[in-house]
Amino acid sequence: MFLTITVLAACLLLPEVESFAITAEGSINVTVGDTANFTVKPSAAVKNGNWDFKGKNIGLWIGSSPSISNEYTPRAEILTPNGSLVLKSVTSSDSGDYTVTMVPEVGEQASKTITLHVLEPVSKPTVTANATNPVEFNDTVALTCIASGTAVSYQWLEENSTITPNDRIALSDDNSSLTISGVLRSDGGFTCYAFNTINGMTSDPYHLNVSYGPDGPKISINPDLSIYPAGREVTFTCSVDSNPPAAMEWFHHETSLQQKGRELIIASISLNQSGTYTFIGITNNASGSFDLKINYGPEAVTVEPPGPSHLELGQSLTLRCSAQSVPSAAYRWSNGNGLLDSGQTYNIESTKESPGGNYTCEAYNNITRHTKSATIEVTIEEKAIKSETLSAGAIAGIVIAILAVPVIGGTAWFVKKKLSRGKGGSQQNNSKLASSGSGPAASSNGTNPENTKTSETDVVYSQPNINPLYAASPPALIDSNKTAYAELKFT
Ligand SMILES: *[C@@H]1O[C@H](CO)[C@@H](O)[C@H](O)[C@H]1NC(C)=O
Ligand SMILES: *[C@@H]1O[C@H](CO)[C@@H](O)[C@H](O)[C@H]1NC(C)=O
Ligand SMILES: *[C@@H]1O[C@H](CO)[C@@H](O)[C@H](O)[C@H]1NC(C)=O
Ligand SMILES: *[C@@H]1O[C@H](CO)[C@@H](O)[C@H](O)[C@H]1NC(C)=O
Ligand SMILES: *[C@@H]1O[C@H](CO)[C@@H](O)[C@H](O)[C@H]1NC(C)=O
Ligand SMILES: *[C@@H]1O[C@H](CO)[C@@H](O)[C@H](O)[C@H]1NC(C)=O
Ligand SMILES: *[C@@H]1O[C@H](CO)[C@@H](O)[C@H](O)[C@H]1NC(C)=O
Ligand SMILES: *[C@@H]1O[C@H](CO)[C@@H](O)[C@H](O)[C@H]1NC(C)=O
Ligand SMILES: *[C@@H]1O[C@H](CO)[C@@H](O)[C@H](O)[C@H]1NC(C)=O
Ligand SMILES: *[C@@H]1O[C@H](CO)[C@@H](O)[C@H](O)[C@H]1NC(C)=O
Ligand SMILES: *[C@@H]1O[C@H](CO)[C@@H](O)[C@H](O)[C@H]1NC(C)=O
Ligand SMILES: *[C@@H]1O[C@H](CO)[C@@H](O)[C@H](O)[C@H]1NC(C)=O
Repeated sequence: MFLTITVLAACLLLPEVESFAITAEGSINVTVGDTANFTVKPSAAVKNGNWDFKGKNIGLWIGSSPSISNEYTPRAEILTPNGSLVLKSVTSSDSGDYTVTMVPEVGEQASKTITLHVLEPVSKPTVTANATNPVEFNDTVALTCIASGTAVSYQWLEENSTITPNDRIALSDDNSSLTISGVLRSDGGFTCYAFNTINGMTSDPYHLNVSYGPDGPKISINPDLSIYPAGREVTFTCSVDSNPPAAMEWFHHETSLQQKGRELIIASISLNQSGTYTFIGITNNASGSFDLKINYGPEAVTVEPPGPSHLELGQSLTLRCSAQSVPSAAYRWSNGNGLLDSGQTYNIESTKESPGGNYTCEAYNNITRHTKSATIEVTIEEKAIKSETLSAGAIAGIVIAILAVPVIGGTAWFVKKKLSRGKGGSQQNNSKLASSGSGPAASSNGTNPENTKTSETDVVYSQPNINPLYAASPPALIDSNKTAYAELKFT
């Protein structure tokens, strides 16, 4: 009786419950380590059911009694009565299709498959390049960003700013690589930001080691003075910008100076250091040269013939003045009556209008702005009085001008220099010398000019106070309006 009613009831319900069905999402995304909820809704009461993954049984339930397989204990849990599966601490190997099969109290059994995507977070990306030492302007470099993780997207930054593709920089379709055509030395500090729905990570900056140059050279002088006392240490620095850095070998008139490096150091200027300096890159092809011109003088002012000279009335005598000077000195002649003439020679007509006496030749160097003089005595009567050619004395000072004509580079610039000594100072010294009547050993024209210069080089002019010759001189007048120009010219 009882049984009959049940069967009847079942038969009566059958048309309403057309078929038993399970409702669930088709896929779920869960981050590694999290819990996956396979939530299912059966359309009717369930008698029993089970979960499978890749052919293996995870667990089953009968009524309200779940039973989990050993492999999934204690990670998995089946919730009754609806049969939802909870899987904790998922790993990427849990990704895949999970199938639940349920047998309803009434009707046909049904199955439902849910795909689990285990999402992996992004790892810290690394940037690799297909060229380690690209050459500036010439090379194309592809930077590739590599990060593990699920569905990673990429973004590139240079010095923390988002890169927007341009005619030199292109991005791959998935943004994972960056191609830089014609790399520049300024390209640098590329970072990659990799991200997905879970997280985002930034790579360390990647610095392209772009080989470039040599550029320049730039030549600088330290200290930068208008007048360099002989013996003063001067550092010429030739800098050539290049990667890898260039080491230079230095030559003076094609003789190696046995100095290597970016700097040429001239420890003590002497006059024989004028001339052409050349540098050649040891590690690359940088090369160039510049001319170092040491202006000096006037030195060793002499008058030919050296006095004293004797003239008979009606005779004439041509005096010729010379001095060691770079650039060459300008000359002028005077006697006790004042200025006579300018020019290297002076002709004395022994007339009553041009009597005998002391004739002074003044030599003037328009760069060093120094003047030196020599005086001879010319007698018209009979016996000559002793006179002497005055030595020029000390070196007047050295003015350095550089005319650099490097092989490479294309810039021209000028260095303006101020002269710190006025003309007044020189004249003071000259008058003192002239009146002293006997300077240091006179240098005749026959002496080796080099030796003469060298010995005089020891006397420092531009620091009058430490020069015994000029110890009593008043301080030089500073005429800051006087300027000279040293030209640094690169062609
Ligand atoms: C789940 O992840 C996949 C990629 O693994 C993605 O295509 C899908 O949109 C994600 N679904 C949800 C609901 O986030
Ligand atoms: C799964 O359910 C648990 C408990 O309700 C919850 O804490 C967890 O966040 C759920 N997991 C997901 C991926 O939704
Ligand atoms: C399934 O059953 C559990 C335990 O009774 C309950 O917490 C959960 O909300 C149910 N899920 C659905 C989708 O009904
Ligand atoms: C690097 O890759 C880019 C793009 O594929 C290519 O154009 C370039 O020639 C490569 N550079 C080197 C040095 O291989
Ligand atoms: C760079 O390219 C230019 C022009 O093609 C070429 O003259 C030069 O030698 C190249 N430089 C290097 C270092 O390859
Ligand atoms: C880029 O950002 C990082 C972190 O905020 C900072 O330390 C760094 O100085 C920045 N670099 C530049 C070039 O702005
Ligand atoms: C690549 O990056 C650009 C922005 O730079 C973005 O608009 C684009 O959607 C990205 N493409 C992909 C596939 O991520
Ligand atoms: C950069 O490249 C040069 C060669 O072009 C190499 O000598 C130097 O060591 C490199 N520097 C770094 C930091 O890799
Ligand atoms: C230049 O002069 C200095 C002394 O002033 C001397 O020591 C040196 O040998 C000279 N150099 C040359 C190349 O003549
Ligand atoms: C320097 O020049 C020589 C000859 O011109 C050439 O063979 C050599 O490869 C060059 N070296 C560099 C580093 O450019
Ligand atoms: C300085 O004197 C030299 C030779 O005497 C001459 O060539 C040059 O033009 C003069 N320079 C100036 C600025 O007067
Ligand atoms: C010429 O100079 C000498 C030496 O300074 C001096 O003794 C002499 O009197 C001078 N002669 C004349 C005519 O001034």
